[in-house]
Amino acid sequence: MDIGIDKIGVYVPKNYIDIVELAKARNVDPNKFTIGIGQDKQAVPQPYEDAVTMAANSADSILTAEDKQALGLLIVGTESSIDESKSSAAFLMDLLDLPEDIRSFEIKQACYGATAGLQTAVDFVSQNPDKKALVIASDIARYGIKTPGEVTQGAGSVAMIVSQNPRVLKLTRKSVYMTRNVGDFWRPTFSKTAFARGKFSNEVYVDFFNTLWKKYQEKYSATIDDFSTLLFHIPYTKMGTKALRTLEGKIPDTKYAELTEHYQASIKFSREVGNLYTGSLYLGLLSYLTNAAQSNEELLLFSYGSGAVGELYSGEIQAGFDTIIDQNSILKMLDNRQKMSIADYEKMYQIEYQNGTIVDPQAVNSKFYLSEIKENERLYKKLK
Ligand code: CAA
Repeated sequence: MDIGIDKIGVYVPKNYIDIVELAKARNVDPNKFTIGIGQDKQAVPQPYEDAVTMAANSADSILTAEDKQALGLLIVGTESSIDESKSSAAFLMDLLDLPEDIRSFEIKQACYGATAGLQTAVDFVSQNPDKKALVIASDIARYGIKTPGEVTQGAGSVAMIVSQNPRVLKLTRKSVYMTRNVGDFWRPTFSKTAFARGKFSNEVYVDFFNTLWKKYQEKYSATIDDFSTLLFHIPYTKMGTKALRTLEGKIPDTKYAELTEHYQASIKFSREVGNLYTGSLYLGLLSYLTNAAQSNEELLLFSYGSGAVGELYSGEIQAGFDTIIDQNSILKMLDNRQKMSIADYEKMYQIEYQNGTIVDPQAVNSKFYLSEIKENERLYKKLK
């Protein structure tokens, strides 16, 4: 039975900052941020947006009534969760009008969470072929104002429906994975912002990619000629470039040129949005599908979550995938965003809603939003 991604949708906040303006405000040469890091814009969420609201928005962009009836599993992968007990998935049940006979939960393993969700969803559908699964990656990436990680922030959500006979990406079920206890990036429960050993995290990422690619070749007698495209977890676009570059000179020049060209298509959206943490790999997939992909291409996808878990797996783009993805709406959503000044971004960054907050819906620019914090419980609404 063929199983994989049947639909994929995205949500990004409606405001962004310009990376050149950020560089100037931080007294950094803009080329460091645009070339050295590889970013152009960074999504900035409103205080009434969080992992739950963004997840609702991305899922709402793809779910039909028929999908909802067929759902048996809902998984949210996030590392910026809003509750230590209740999962983001539970909040989505009424926001998205989902039927009750669904197994739902949240997965946390840094930026690997959505991949864990995707692989779990594939197993679920293989056991329940008439059912579908909804897997959502949703995160706000925060390192703090004036930190080295600030330029690698971002926010957004990617939602995927997993089913049999998928119309976008068939997962081949060929996969290798690994886990090591590594201190490259962490966020203690008391902190809204992450801590990172930045340069060390780059090294671990590249080492995981190289180790997994070796494992994959051994396990499946594969060669690079089996693939036309490598997609990477993209915390910032230079990161994937660094991993890709390790193949230069080890594979034929023409193949390296092809992979580099395709990688450029996969990072277009990330350059515009920034880090989605667990959604970053899937924003790259969507960028590639929207900007360059061809039917029947074989892809290799590298998922990495600090701490650290990595997985390298393959998929095959399905014929007609371009009729399933709402490319116009996605491009319109990116184009219609509003730039925010660095001063306004810094002010908004400090806002943290406390118990008793009631949000004025007139001031809200996202369909799903945090409406109130009452008795320390976060309550959500959909704009009418
Ligand atoms: N023009 C062009 N390039 C320039 C430049 C200029 N004027 N000045 C500097 N550069 C280049 C540097 O040469 C360097 O390039 P290379 O990496 O190719 O050597 C690049 O710009 C960055 O420069 P630095 O390394 O000096 O930058 P930094 O010390 O400010 O830190 C960072 C960069 C480590 C990525 C930091 O932003 C950070 O800590 N980010 C968060 C951690 C992270 O994203 N890690 C990624 C892997 S872990 C992960 O994936 C987890 C996750 O998503 C959460």
